[in-house]
Amino acid sequence: MTLLEIFPSLREGGIVPRLDSTVWPRETHYDADGRITVGGVALADIADQYGTPTYVLDEGEVRSRCQAYQKWFPEAEIIYAGKALLTRAVAEWIAAEGLSLDVCSAGELAVALASGVDPAKIVLHGNGKPFGELEKAINAGVGRIVVDSLTEITLLSALAERPQRVLLRVTPDIDVHGHPAVRTGVTDQKFGFPIGSTAVKEAVDRIVRQPNLELVGLHCHIGSQIYDTFPYGEAVRRMIGEMARIRDEFGVTLTDLDLGGGHAVAYRSGDAEMNLPELSDIVEDSLDAACQRHGFPRPRIALEPGRAIVARAGVTLYRVLSVKHVEGGHTYVTVDGGMCDNPRVALYGARYDAVVANRHPSGPHMTATIAGRYCEAGDILAHDVRLPVDLRPGEVLAMPCTGAYHHSLASSYNGVGRPPIVAVRDGQCRELVRRETIDDLMCRDIGH
Ligand code: LLP
Repeated sequence: MTLLEIFPSLREGGIVPRLDSTVWPRETHYDADGRITVGGVALADIADQYGTPTYVLDEGEVRSRCQAYQKWFPEAEIIYAGKALLTRAVAEWIAAEGLSLDVCSAGELAVALASGVDPAKIVLHGNGKPFGELEKAINAGVGRIVVDSLTEITLLSALAERPQRVLLRVTPDIDVHGHPAVRTGVTDQKFGFPIGSTAVKEAVDRIVRQPNLELVGLHCHIGSQIYDTFPYGEAVRRMIGEMARIRDEFGVTLTDLDLGGGHAVAYRSGDAEMNLPELSDIVEDSLDAACQRHGFPRPRIALEPGRAIVARAGVTLYRVLSVKHVEGGHTYVTVDGGMCDNPRVALYGARYDAVVANRHPSGPHMTATIAGRYCEAGDILAHDVRLPVDLRPGEVLAMPCTGAYHHSLASSYNGVGRPPIVAVRDGQCRELVRRETIDDLMCRDIGH
């Protein structure tokens, strides 16, 4: 608990709350005018220059998260899951930091290739890969394709003109009890082949009989926003057991084990997040024990973090449009964005915090609900947020930990274009993705 939580009156006395470094980018400060700066740039200046809503992305934070993974998993391959956020610049940063890249469509593949990512370091995912997308991936020379159905094996063997390395996606029957929409480790679901099943055997049998397909390993992804390390240890034990069974039955010793992503981040102060040193220890210990038990050579481990690389690097800026006090009810602060730039609240019940970014949040505070501008009563961005009682239309609110699955999940519902992404670094800012304009929306509508 912070001092301000114990003595809320201190806040009213003019003490400026600390910006929690588990939730905000590390380079977040208040400047001499009381404005929040990220990466050395005042967020209020970004709002003035690029308008709102705007996604701000701290390049240094993204890079330092890549470095943290390399530090704690020095022997593993770190494959960034591009679905969390993929732009050409982000792809360049992660490649420059030595990470590989997971893409799940021809669109993501195109961004990766346009940014010069080595195709050999690209991994293609998806439970339903259209034929044309498989063809594009093979022609581009992607390093690995994660096989998710028997049909795909037939298509791949028909398409591959040179040996194509593949992994087989297996569901390890581990329920991490996350939100149903992101529960991927359990057996009865659309991804992968159930561990220990005849379906796994059939898939392996089919792959190893194709001379142009090289089965290098197994893949599993047990879910998202997981802060407990134990399920990863269990996944290692089960997957090594499965690799040993495949060796015993088919005489094939797989060399790669991809453990997927899913590492939790803190969205609000006090939220649990994945502890990388602990995760590293449990993966190592489970590997040692399982490999010894099955007499299996240590495979090369891969991890696929998405959210844990980019979430905390992102801060979304909104302008307050109105403040409405409902008698006997809540205070609604309506902003100029909402469920289209952040669908995570409506989709997964995600919880966020926000602070005023253009001045010191000193003086008395109120508890408010931050409402979006979209024509749906459920378009709420955050509940129970402490904001200054004198908050006025035109002021800038900053919502932290919005770098993952925000821009990539955004839509243009209600005919509102998607926000731009502005990168900050060393006191400079630059636009990575421009705002979607009404002209952009209109030009797709070609019918009469
Ligand atoms: N690898 C595979 C095969 C995946 O399917 C995913 C995420 C990841 C890695 C990266 O997971 P992460 O480390 O980012 O949790 N839209 C949801 C998350 C969906 C995740 C889908 N797969 C959200 O906003 O919470």
